[in-house]
Amino acid sequence: MRCPHCHAGLQGEGETLRCSVHGVIKRSAAGVYLFLQDGAGYFEEHWQHNRLPEMPLAKRETGIRFLSFLFNEAAPRGSGARWVDVGTGDGVHLAIVREFYPEVEVVGIDISGPGLEAVAQRFPKATLLHADGQSIPLQDNSADATFSYGTLAYMDDPWKGLSELVRVTKPGGLIGVWFYPKRGDLLGLLFRLTRRMVSKVPTLYQRALADLIVPFLSLLPTASGVSLKNASWKACREVVLVNIAPPNLIFPTQEEVCEHFSGLKCDVVHSDQANPISVWAKKRVDLIAP
Ligand SMILES: C[S@@+](CC[C@H](N)C(=O)[O-])C[C@H]1O[C@@H](n2cnc3c(N)ncnc32)[C@H](O)[C@@H]1O
Repeated sequence: MRCPHCHAGLQGEGETLRCSVHGVIKRSAAGVYLFLQDGAGYFEEHWQHNRLPEMPLAKRETGIRFLSFLFNEAAPRGSGARWVDVGTGDGVHLAIVREFYPEVEVVGIDISGPGLEAVAQRFPKATLLHADGQSIPLQDNSADATFSYGTLAYMDDPWKGLSELVRVTKPGGLIGVWFYPKRGDLLGLLFRLTRRMVSKVPTLYQRALADLIVPFLSLLPTASGVSLKNASWKACREVVLVNIAPPNLIFPTQEEVCEHFSGLKCDVVHSDQANPISVWAKKRVDLIAP
């Protein structure tokens, strides 16, 4: 691992990590490495109020669909392989990788402390880093694969987040991202208006407004497929809130995502047309320093 502030390699392992300039990186009782001292921003609280006791089945299916390209590729997946999940959230992708490839080390990174604490309780041996995906505390070329589902779009600088995924991926490794697709129709307009209104009201009212939308979830084209038909009210509210409440949320086109990958010297190897915007790219091998 490396220090997110000065980028120096960290000394020690297990319980204690130390940067010679910035001191000790603390670890929470549940085992989360605390690279961020103060929680801030929408998601710090989000997972405190919307922690789910169960994983909605629809989310698992959507997650498997996203990861299937990685699973079908010859990415290292045995003991010693390391995959990185930026924006771990409730741990849905971490759980899927554990189920299919139990020997792979999945490093889960999230900006939300309460979210990671909940994941740590579910997966006591997971490597979890409370850190900003725009400054990943991992060394260059240290992961066999990286992915980030529905997370980069919330960052102050989503393309910095993408460049960080590429930086930590080994040459030849896969990088997968999923973004909310841009909607130009009436629903898209309503969605943008709702977001503008909701981001200005206190958290309590945001939840009340989300509750008004929950019953309509099965009529709206949600990416996760979560609705009252297959998930609890709380799980539905969580899905509504992440769409309407966070202050930052960009909607790039598939072309923009591919262009950014190309600018980072990655070749797009897969884009799921039926599940926009789901893109996998491979980091060029010629990026290895001579
Ligand atoms: C919509 S949720 C998606 C979670 C999960 N990937 C999933 O598919 O269910 C977005 C996640 O991104 C995290 N997040 C937002 N900004 C981030 C950042 N700058 N660095 C790391 N994680 C971030 C949030 O805390 C949240 O858990």
